[in-house]
Amino acid sequence: MAGVGHYVPERVMTNADFEKILDTTDEWIVSRTGMHERHIARDDETTSDMGLAAAKMAIERAGCAASDIGCVIVATVTPDYLFPATASVLAAKLGIAGTAAFDMEIACSGFIYGLTVASSLIQSGVYRRVLLVGSEKLSSITNYEDRGTAVLFGDGAGAVVLEAAERNDFLSSELGSDGSDPSLLLVPAGGTVAPLTAEGISEKQNKMVMKGREVFRFAVTKMIEATDAALAKAGLTRKDISYAIPHQANRRIIDAAAKQLEMIGDKVVITVDKYGNTSSASIPIALSETYGAGKLKDGDLIVFVGFGGGLSWGAVAWRWWER
Ligand code: UT7
Repeated sequence: MAGVGHYVPERVMTNADFEKILDTTDEWIVSRTGMHERHIARDDETTSDMGLAAAKMAIERAGCAASDIGCVIVATVTPDYLFPATASVLAAKLGIAGTAAFDMEIACSGFIYGLTVASSLIQSGVYRRVLLVGSEKLSSITNYEDRGTAVLFGDGAGAVVLEAAERNDFLSSELGSDGSDPSLLLVPAGGTVAPLTAEGISEKQNKMVMKGREVFRFAVTKMIEATDAALAKAGLTRKDISYAIPHQANRRIIDAAAKQLEMIGDKVVITVDKYGNTSSASIPIALSETYGAGKLKDGDLIVFVGFGGGLSWGAVAWRWWER
């Protein structure tokens, strides 16, 4: 990875803010999720705007120019438009209109899938340098009248610049999905199943709904299975892991999976307390913060692991090399 970056909006929404608008308490939110606050974008701040800020940091840290990038990929479920792709809009904002650009929509697993696709494009020689961005304005699809979901989500973006190098960093990937029950986690209206109507909007069918307990159980199981599978594909074991950077959906999910994976102490990166769940942005934000804190050393083994809507899941084993 040549460079990593992130961005979160300025406005912070605390648990105390939710106490004023919902039947909830700071105690419930902290004990059930580990969340204290999350960042919320301005009305006029878009997914591509946040992605742009994160991308600029990643490009600067990579020591390259935007014009050196051969392909832009944005993982998001909250695109600027249904189409064109947010990646295309972002490329234009970076001053590299004309560059290959596409979106990937795999909800909270988006960064894991994106890392797999971007690394494969590089390893196959199609591109030398790929910008991968996870950016989400989840506040735009959050129902602030539903206490079961409202408190969970935040906005933000993370970005990585991947480039071809002699030392291999992308070691393995394990991906999966099961779309047999979309009702577990979805935005019901706005697609071809239920086009948006005035009635649908008044019933908030354009906002996210989730069966939290079911998703929780699935998440813990899949995080463990995907981590072990990715490690096995790379010929590695749990003991080889330097850092696990999991999707930040709930502190309890992360702790339960970490315990079963026998991961202890500060090997597991946590940001859910500050940012809540930022879907495809959560892993690259956590990575960028870990890098910014000077914690990553040459040769460290990082396991990225995520799960979410789809349902979807995945893990990537990654060797960190200083560039
Ligand atoms: O990014 C991937 C997608 N998302 C996730 O991975 C989230 C996965 N699920 C979760 O993190 C958890 O299931 C939640 C945090 C969503 C909920 O925690 P839980 O421990 O599973 O609670 P629950 O849904 O079983 O609800 C327990 C109680 C219910 O009340 P009753 O029926 O027992 O009276 C809820 O109505 O807690 C109530 N509740 C709340 N109470 C206060 C739900 N939300 C709140 C709230 N404040 N915000």
